[in-house]
Amino acid sequence: MDELTDERVVPGTSLRATAVSVGTSFLGNPPGPDGSPAAAADALARALLAGPFAVIDTSNNYAEGRSETVLGTAVRRDGLPADKAIVTKVDADPESGALDRDRVWRSFEESVERLGLPYLPVLHLHDPYTIEVADALAPGGAVQGLTELRDQGLVGAVGIAAGPVSLMRAYAVSGAFDVLLTHNRYTLVDRRAEELIDLAADRGIGVFNAAPFGGGILAGSGDTYAYRTAGPDLLAWLERARELCRRWELPLHAVALRHSLRHPGIASTIVGVGRPERLDQLRELQATPIPESFWPELAALGTPPSTLED
Ligand SMILES: NC(=O)c1ccc[n+]([C@@H]2O[C@H](COP(=O)([O-])OP(=O)(O)OC[C@H]3O[C@@H](n4cnc5c(N)ncnc54)[C@H](OP(=O)(O)O)[C@@H]3O)[C@@H](O)[C@H]2O)c1
Repeated sequence: MDELTDERVVPGTSLRATAVSVGTSFLGNPPGPDGSPAAAADALARALLAGPFAVIDTSNNYAEGRSETVLGTAVRRDGLPADKAIVTKVDADPESGALDRDRVWRSFEESVERLGLPYLPVLHLHDPYTIEVADALAPGGAVQGLTELRDQGLVGAVGIAAGPVSLMRAYAVSGAFDVLLTHNRYTLVDRRAEELIDLAADRGIGVFNAAPFGGGILAGSGDTYAYRTAGPDLLAWLERARELCRRWELPLHAVALRHSLRHPGIASTIVGVGRPERLDQLRELQATPIPESFWPELAALGTPPSTLED
């Protein structure tokens, strides 16, 4: 798999992805005065559809549905280019928290309506924190809904997308999923998903690794890691890492991105983008040469501290 020439089929699916995929969790935020997506969101959606990255990641509940709505508006107007795919996720009912077979179908129907696409190449079960794994796998549970959608040819493959590694592991070993999405747990400062990624490779499950910048801090923005305040240990480690990068004349975020791209078990790395210029910047970051001899020096900084416990 060539991390720059890029195209590869995600294991467990027939989806063609580039090494980098783009994430749209904030697309459509903030809303316009009438609650609909504001104009800048449309410019970003247009750029994503015309950009270099094959897979656009969204979800039923991102920006309360506006992420899908903005993408769908652009798809209806400009068409979905043949080299692009939109991957979305089913979410619990926002009011009741229900996430069973029927809710999976409704979430799917909402998504295809918003996106203007009758078929989804991958549909993930998203953050299933309101239900137990056993309930999801039981008759009438979320997995039944996903399996029906796949069996009926309405989706190409089904995935599990969530955070806690033990939860992800339980879903991955169930045999029900073709692909998984882990986030913030295989980055420069957190490696706890490593075993999960190996397990997926052994089972032919494709892996998306999301949030290689920990939500932004590893790209120089914000003071949270994985959406929680970064502790003093993490900030101190980051300062040492930045100093090392300065000596090597490397941007820390190029290193953070490559850390994910160079893992052979990761089919595609999902980076969140909030503005069109990020696309060219990411291409440049992706192409930044990083000498092999840099990595042992980075490792010598010691085990990076994470703010996560799961
Ligand atoms: N449970 C799940 O399924 C789950 C959980 C987490 C994430 N995800 C997916 O993964 C995606 C990525 O996660 P994330 O957005 O939370 O974290 P991330 O990719 O680690 O970081 C995104 C941040 O990095 C900044 N950034 C992107 N490219 C940059 C560049 N070239 N230079 C400098 N800064 C750059 C963005 O800034 P701007 O906003 O200014 O562009 C944004 O603030 C999400 O959008 C979502 O699609 C899924």
